[in-house]
Amino acid sequence: MRIRPAIRAGILLAVIVVAVVAAQGAQAQTPAAACGACHAQEYDGWAASAHAHAAESRAFQSLAGAASAVAGWGSDGCYRCHAPLAQGGAGAAAGVSCEACHLMERVGGAGNGDFSLATDGVLRSAKAGRAPHPTSASPLFGDALFCAACHEQYHPVSGVALQSTYTEWVNSAGSHGGKTCQTCHMAEASGGHAFGPSVADDAAKGEALARAITLEVRWPDSAQAGRALIVDVRLENTGAAHALPTGKPEGYEMWLEMAATVGGQTVFTESLPYGVVFADDEGNYDPRVTSSDAASLLRDHRLFPGRAVVERFAFVVPADVRGQVDVEVRLMYRRTPSWLSERLGLPSVPAMLVRRASAAVPVVEPPPRPTYVAPTPTATLAPTPTPVLEGSGTVEEEGWLGSFLLVAGLVLVSVAAWALKARAV
Ligand code: HEC
Ligand code: HEC
Ligand code: HEC
Ligand code: HEC
Ligand code: HEC
Repeated sequence: MRIRPAIRAGILLAVIVVAVVAAQGAQAQTPAAACGACHAQEYDGWAASAHAHAAESRAFQSLAGAASAVAGWGSDGCYRCHAPLAQGGAGAAAGVSCEACHLMERVGGAGNGDFSLATDGVLRSAKAGRAPHPTSASPLFGDALFCAACHEQYHPVSGVALQSTYTEWVNSAGSHGGKTCQTCHMAEASGGHAFGPSVADDAAKGEALARAITLEVRWPDSAQAGRALIVDVRLENTGAAHALPTGKPEGYEMWLEMAATVGGQTVFTESLPYGVVFADDEGNYDPRVTSSDAASLLRDHRLFPGRAVVERFAFVVPADVRGQVDVEVRLMYRRTPSWLSERLGLPSVPAMLVRRASAAVPVVEPPPRPTYVAPTPTATLAPTPTPVLEGSGTVEEEGWLGSFLLVAGLVLVSVAAWALKARAV
């Protein structure tokens, strides 16, 4: 049977509308693809985003399974944000679906999924146009608080902050001209509903991070064998109104590394991680403590907006090095941290290069040391010669004064003699 395209499209549309309405009535999820039949642009962006794949990653699934056994989390604890419309895990594959956001009715902002979804089937958004389904305008959709529904989390038992993206944004208010999450992640980032670089595009993620973080290196002019070579690296988060990285430690790995080589042979390497480190309730320092076991926060070393960080790398150039030392500094990022892949027995995820700087530092001979000549004791004991005031003004003045006094004296004597003589007469 041949159906004309227009009729076929009509039937498809009718089926979709019926599905949407029926699904809303039953408060089950409408497949995002059904919304996408009319909202293709939003669908394409969303499908490539982390929101669409929020309950898919193997890391998430294994941790969620383990967490359901941890007191306080509950079996649905992880799905609350990763797949809000899943019921007992069913329908979790939809992730953070269209409706998980567009039915958002209230957000408290306290974290841990402090939000409620409407059951009236009315699709909320920043504005509401004439649509073949009920819509309603809600100012919440233009507010950063909307994102706080899920991007703010604490441990249900220990109370430790696991992710504080919203709080970080509140604290950095003013640093980015009042931009909301939506301004940067939906209006400015390519693709609106992609909320940023696609989860499948590491190159785009690396470039987005590179635009947000400046890296400046102070290289030494030269180095000396056997002496310390010091490199200062200044990093600043100028592009994000929250820490970088943000979110919880299972979702990122970022580090700065420096490597020094001589003729291709590595002579020094060091790496500094950016992130948070938790301790479990036995106080273990292990960086492998995941969010679900976090009892306290041990360390928070990340790039906060408006607070530049200067890292110093220092090492001693081996004594036999001649020529130059090639030094390279790299800022790296990985979506699933290597410690987590290792712990869960998953294949490791490739690291991406965010920023890089390098220099060849010439190794110079140390300048000849100045020779120290000890003064001889006789020289010190010798009497200080009296300065000769040759042709000095003082000497001349003294001569002039002497002659004047001599003349004056002679005059006085002759005047006195003349007076005596006069008296005698
Ligand atoms: C219903 C919960 C929920 C809401 C509301 C929500 N998010 Fe998310 N978001 C998530 C979850 C869960 C993930 C992690 C998905 C994954 O990778 O497993 C995520 C991931 C992201 C990522 C990708 C992170 C990465 O590492 O690439 C960005 C960016 C993001 N969200 C931005 C936003 C913004 C901006 C808002 C507000 C407009 C928002 N989200 C609202 C749950 C939510
Ligand atoms: C993480 C939350 C979230 C998810 C998931 C989400 N949206 Fe949105 N959507 C928003 C927000 C917030 C706005 C308002 C954006 C603004 O005004 O800048 C919006 C706006 C819209 C709009 C209005 C036009 C526009 O693009 O601004 C449509 C239509 C829309 N979304 C459809 C969808 C569809 C279809 C899906 C699923 C494929 C979807 N949304 C998934 C948060 C979400
Ligand atoms: C049969 C086509 C169709 C289907 C299916 C559909 N929509 Fe719409 N929707 C529209 C039209 C047309 C509008 C109003 C014009 C516009 O803004 O695009 C609209 C408006 C909206 C709005 C309000 C934003 C605005 O600019 O008016 C949101 C949010 C929205 N739709 C979300 C969804 C979601 C989520 C689904 C799936 C559950 C969905 N829509 C399914 C056609 C559809
Ligand atoms: C001034 C712009 C700006 C604002 C405002 C902003 N972000 Fe971001 N955000 C960025 C940039 C830039 C990145 C890094 C590149 C990327 O991954 O998109 C980023 C990254 C992220 C990531 C990925 C985390 C990572 O470590 O890679 C998440 C999640 C996120 N932002 C959520 C939010 C939420 C939620 C808000 C609001 C509370 C928000 N952002 C406000 C610019 C912004
Ligand atoms: C309060 C909401 C919320 C709850 C509850 C929650 N998450 Fe998340 N989760 C998020 C958000 C938002 C992100 C994205 C963080 C980012 O990239 O900044 C995320 C990211 C992740 C990631 C890294 C991305 C990925 O999918 O590989 C893992 C793993 C994860 N969560 C596991 C869990 C587990 C396990 C639980 C339950 C013990 C859980 N989450 C509970 C909001 C939540």
